[in-house]
Amino acid sequence: MKKIRKAVIPVAGMGTRFLPASKAIPKEMLTIVDRPTIQYIVEEVVASGIEEVILITSEGKSAIENHFDYNYELDNVLMRQNKHQLREELARTSNLIEVVSVRQKKPLGLGHAIWMARHVIGDEPFLVLLGDDLVRSEKPCCRQMLDLYDQVGESIVAIQRVPMEQTSQYGIVEGEPTEFERTFKVSRMVEKPSLGMSYSDMAIIGRYLLMPEIFEILGNTTPGHGGEIQLTDALQALTNRRGMYAFEFTGKRYDAGDKLGYLKAIVDVALDHHALGEPFRQYLKAICSNDNCPL
Ligand code: G1P
Repeated sequence: MKKIRKAVIPVAGMGTRFLPASKAIPKEMLTIVDRPTIQYIVEEVVASGIEEVILITSEGKSAIENHFDYNYELDNVLMRQNKHQLREELARTSNLIEVVSVRQKKPLGLGHAIWMARHVIGDEPFLVLLGDDLVRSEKPCCRQMLDLYDQVGESIVAIQRVPMEQTSQYGIVEGEPTEFERTFKVSRMVEKPSLGMSYSDMAIIGRYLLMPEIFEILGNTTPGHGGEIQLTDALQALTNRRGMYAFEFTGKRYDAGDKLGYLKAIVDVALDHHALGEPFRQYLKAICSNDNCPL
């Protein structure tokens, strides 16, 4: 079984759900407490033991590449000002992991974005993480998937149960339980089924572990839902060809591409923050203890 060394993170989307905040800066650069959202995703990859990240970018997204790069001038200024702790923090970010970026020239869909990584990935299984899906868990979600891969040796999609009335917002998976804990053998996948047309509440969350055959399949996938080349359609073909598992990971997932999901992430991350957690908790308690409590 080939070792999984690389992770693809598509960040080419326009971020229309976050306008006007995302007009001039990538939504992936919006801050959750003290780091941009994309850094949490990359840190999950690093904590899972992956060696290289491939960002699929588009015009206007260079701030993301710069964030993980080394800034010589800034480092020099901080050195002259004796701001060593800050320098270390910045060095930690730029040394996190090897980052390669590939441009997706046209917004043809998530499937097309992943297909753009084919030359950099080559003939190895790999991970995909969507930048909108932030997962907080004791063991990183990707690590949980890599551990399952060691047992099943096939493609895996991470799933979460959602209320039936929300199934039209996700790729939906149907399948049967297996001998592996929280793991299902996939029979069918549908991208954003119309309301009332879904037979399952298992929603695809933005974490995938894929066999490299997906590239050949994606190259032949025609536009689907919304007129875009859908990853889910290619996953159905991969399921038919060699099989696929759906894994109900442990952890809490936030839709950080949505304003409310983003706010929830901020509150939970802030409450757990080593320096800000306690004063933030005190602040929340104080606003709830007076007569004008907004809750
Ligand atoms: C994408 C996928 C969908 C998945 C979702 C998870 O949709 O196409 O299958 O359920 O991410 O966040 P998007 O939210 O980008 O429209």
